[in-house]
Amino acid sequence: MNHTHGHSSPRRDAEAEANACASAGNPLLGTPDFDALRTRAHNLRWATVAADVIPLTAADPDLPVASPIIDAITAYVRTPHLSYGPAAGIPEFGAAVARHFKTTKDATVASARVIATNSAASGITLVARHLLKSGDEVVVQDPVDFLVAESARRAGATLRFWRADAGRWTAEGLRAAITPATRAVFVCSPHNPVGALWTPAEVSAIAAVASEYQLILVSDEVWSDVVLDGRPFRSFAAHAQEACRAWVVYGLSKGFGLAGLRIGAVIAPTATDAEQFQEAQGFRHTIEGVSTVSQIAAIAALEQCGPWLQAFLAHCAAQRDFARRRLCALPGVELACAPMGTFVLFFKISGTGLSEEVLAERIETYARVRVVPGSPRWFGAGAAGHIRLSLATTRAVLDDALTRIEAAWPTIVALGDRRPASTGSEAEIDDV
Ligand SMILES: Cc1ncc(COP(=O)(O)O)c(C=O)c1O
Repeated sequence: MNHTHGHSSPRRDAEAEANACASAGNPLLGTPDFDALRTRAHNLRWATVAADVIPLTAADPDLPVASPIIDAITAYVRTPHLSYGPAAGIPEFGAAVARHFKTTKDATVASARVIATNSAASGITLVARHLLKSGDEVVVQDPVDFLVAESARRAGATLRFWRADAGRWTAEGLRAAITPATRAVFVCSPHNPVGALWTPAEVSAIAAVASEYQLILVSDEVWSDVVLDGRPFRSFAAHAQEACRAWVVYGLSKGFGLAGLRIGAVIAPTATDAEQFQEAQGFRHTIEGVSTVSQIAAIAALEQCGPWLQAFLAHCAAQRDFARRRLCALPGVELACAPMGTFVLFFKISGTGLSEEVLAERIETYARVRVVPGSPRWFGAGAAGHIRLSLATTRAVLDDALTRIEAAWPTIVALGDRRPASTGSEAEIDDV
């Protein structure tokens, strides 16, 4: 499949050349196999959309996995014993996660606090189930990725919302959201979908508010490897010994593209909490527990893929700047602050006069690009009037998608906020 698009202006050519080192032509980043993605990439992506649609949807990179990961998996399975591993994960996995948190996330973590989980989604769901009981009140950011709120909801909690102040969640805002019934605060750091990143001082201030009110803090840090522009990141795991007794959820789907391996970790506040969590959540009875092959892949990612990650982050930052410029030139589109973390752009479209659902549907119908509407079911009520778009693809695919959106934009906006007339292509969309 050819995803390149003719560049119409010399400015664009120069731009493309300047970004060549951040394209999938970079030998470290490799070249995606879109035919493989068309069969393997589910969850709103290539395998689930019509053949002519570009899915800039779920946050799962198109780029191939770093080669040390493939080498490690291959070497491991050459010894043909795939027995049960230890309940909390193989010791080298816990040690690798602990080292990674020390070197990249400003937190000293004993490996006895680390439990391997089947993805961050599973990790946060188990943590919520472990810590909450039905009727507990939990403060969550609004908007936020649905998994954060969903984990608390599944544990029977009642949600209270912590609204952003000009795109930032402050310690004062948290204080305002807390009631006498609040038992826990669940955060997403860095933040999906806004891309907000707390400074180390802000992390400490938020942990201090949670401690002051004796609230348990749960931090979903699945995005913590995708911190852009060399900014510092501090994990809430650094505050686990304080009264907030922070629990951290981590995963390798975003920074290392291992979504299909379902590999993540929970970092409990203490080794004793980690033991109790394993006992209560079924790890000791093999009900929970993670594929050893996935753990081997994760160890290789954390220990051998630093240069790959740096190249990937440079690519994501270049994609962000490229897409931001072009999207903000469209009438009715705004992006107040560029994301400092994550590889998604969450831009405001209320200036078009269209709802996010109608706009997303129109973008698919007329531009043949799928994006995620800022609907309550994905991100909460605070996402209204926004669209989310993933940047973790090649420059050529992103350029193609943006060119299609730019070309279709006048038609999309001119139709106003009414459902498009029924067309053949819409019938196809309904089938997806
Ligand atoms: C905040 C958040 N948590 C969890 C996940 C899911 O991660 P995993 O694939 O490790 O379950 C995502 C994926 O988009 C996410 O954005």
